Order: sequence, then C-alpha cells, then structure tokens
Amino acid sequence: IKYGTIYKAIGGYDAVERLNTAFYARVAQHPDLIPIFPEDLTETARIQLLFFVQFFGGPRLYEEERGHPMLRRRHLPFEITPTRKDAWLECLEGALIEVEIEEPIRIAILERLTLTANHMMNTPE
Ligand code: HEM
Repeated sequence: IKYGTIYKAIGGYDAVERLNTAFYARVAQHPDLIPIFPEDLTETARIQLLFFVQFFGGPRLYEEERGHPMLRRRHLPFEITPTRKDAWLECLEGALIEVEIEEPIRIAILERLTLTANHMMNTPE
C-alpha cells in the first residue's frame, strides 16, 4: 500500500478525524499515558489531527502550522519508555478497530506507525 493513498482509501478528512477522536479518547484514559499528557487534550488532539491528515497523504496541514515535524525532538521533553510506546500503539489499534478501518489498511497503518513510535522512545523502563 502506498501511503499517499491511505488518506483517500479510508475516507479522507472525516475518517481521519473520527480516528483521531477515538484515539484521544483512549489516550485520555490510559494509565501509562495520563502522566505525560496535559489534562486538557483539546489542543494536543487538534495538532495530532493536522499531523495524521498529512501523514496519511492528505493536505500538509501540520507543516503549514507547525513547520517541519521533527517528532523525535518534540517528544524529548516527555519520558517515552517502551511501556508508553506500547500504550500509544494499543490506543491506536483500538481506535482503528473502533472506527472500522479494515484490513489490509489497518495493519499497514499500524506497521508504519510502529516504526515511528519506536523512533520516539527516549527513556529506558
Ligand atoms: C505530541 C506522547 C508517539 C505525534 C505529544 C505529546 C506527548 C506525546 C506527551 C505532547 C502533548 C502536548 O503537550 O500537547 C507520545 C507518546 C508516544 C508518541 C507517549 C509513544 C511512542 C507519537 C507518534 C507520532 C506522534 C508515533 C506520530 C506518528 C505527535 C505529534 C505531537 C505529539 C504530531 C504534537 C507535536 C507538536 O506540538 O507539533 N506526543 N507520542 N507521537 N505527538 Fe506524540
């Protein structure tokens, strides 16, 4: 699957927004993630939506507002352990299932974001 096609294949902006909302509902409740995220996730979720739209091959909304992603650097202030990486991916997988993004796209998204998530780890357990 080519990444440029995922945005369209899953249904464009509205689908990415549904996925992002489902994802943050899980992040907000995950005991391993709560300690490092702000209490009010409104702004975090808004920026993550811009990022996911761009990441899946839609308009480059994130860059327009935030510039180059530099994600590893932006995550350095937060202790991202292997457990937190797994928690983040668990929230993502749950959200993908909840909004009914089916195979083979679901696994393609998960595999790609697993690589990015691994890259974000910056703290041992
Ligand atoms: C921001 C945690 C992985 C994309 C953040 C923030 C935290 C966080 C705590 C800051 C929230 C705030 O202050 O508003 C984590 C953890 C991860 C993870 C625990 C586990 C591996 C990822 C991955 C991506 C990603 C894999 C992208 C695919 C973003 C973006 C932002 C962000 C786009 C906003 C950056 C900005 O301010 O422009 N993340 N993250 N994160 N994260 Fe993650």
